[in-house]
Amino acid sequence: MNSEPSRSLVPIDKGNWRAALEVRVTDEQLPMVADHQPVALVILAKAYVQPDDRRWEPLAFVEEAGMVVAVLALAHGEQFTEIVNLAVDAEHQGIGLGTQVVLAVFDHCRHLGVRSVDLTVNPLNEVAARLYRRVGFTPSGEQRHGEPVWTRTLAEGSRR
Ligand SMILES: CC(C)(COP(=O)(O)OP(=O)(O)OC[C@H]1O[C@@H](n2cnc3c(N)ncnc32)[C@H](O)[C@@H]1OP(=O)(O)O)[C@@H](O)C(=O)NCCC(=O)NCCS
Repeated sequence: MNSEPSRSLVPIDKGNWRAALEVRVTDEQLPMVADHQPVALVILAKAYVQPDDRRWEPLAFVEEAGMVVAVLALAHGEQFTEIVNLAVDAEHQGIGLGTQVVLAVFDHCRHLGVRSVDLTVNPLNEVAARLYRRVGFTPSGEQRHGEPVWTRTLAEGSRR
C-alpha cells in the first residue's frame, strides 16, 4: 500500500495564491530562479502580462492539506513549452518533490498535446542539472536568457 502523501499540480488561483506566496527559496538560490521573492509573485506577474507572445500558465504543486510546496510557470509557445521559475520551498527540498513536479508537468503537457518541453539551467545549478538529467532532459546546445537550453521530447505512451 502506498503511504506517500498525495500531491497535485494545479493552477495558481484565487483559492491558493496566498499559499503559493509562502514558497521561498534561499537567498543563494534566488538568482538561479527569479529576480524577486516570493517567486510566485513573478509567476503571477507573467501570467498577467503574458510576455513574449506565449501563453503563460501559473502552477502550484499542492499537498492534500492545501500546503503549496512548489511553484512554476509554463510558457506555451507554438513549437514547445518552457518550464520557467521552478521553485521548491527551501524547507521541502531534497526529498524528491522537484522530480515529482517535473514528472507531473510532463503528464500535464501530454494532456495538452505538447510534444517538447524545454528550460534553461544555470551551469552552476548542479542540483537542478542532476534532476533534469534524471528525468530525461539533455542540453540542446542553444542558449536563451544567457543560459544553456535543455530539452525533453514527450513521446506518446512514454511513462516518464
Ligand atoms: C532545483 C530544485 C527545483 C530541486 O528540487 P528538489 O525538490 O530539491 O529536488 P529532488 O528532491 O527531486 O532532488 C534533489 C536531490 O534530492 C535527492 N532525493 C530525492 N528524493 C530523496 C529522498 N527521499 N531522500 C533523500 N534524498 C532524496 C535526489 O536524488 C537529488 O539528489 P542529487 O541532486 O544528488 O541527485 C530545488 O532545489 C529548488 O527549488 N532550487 C532553487 C530554485 C532553482 O534552482 N530552480 C531551478 C531553476 S532551473
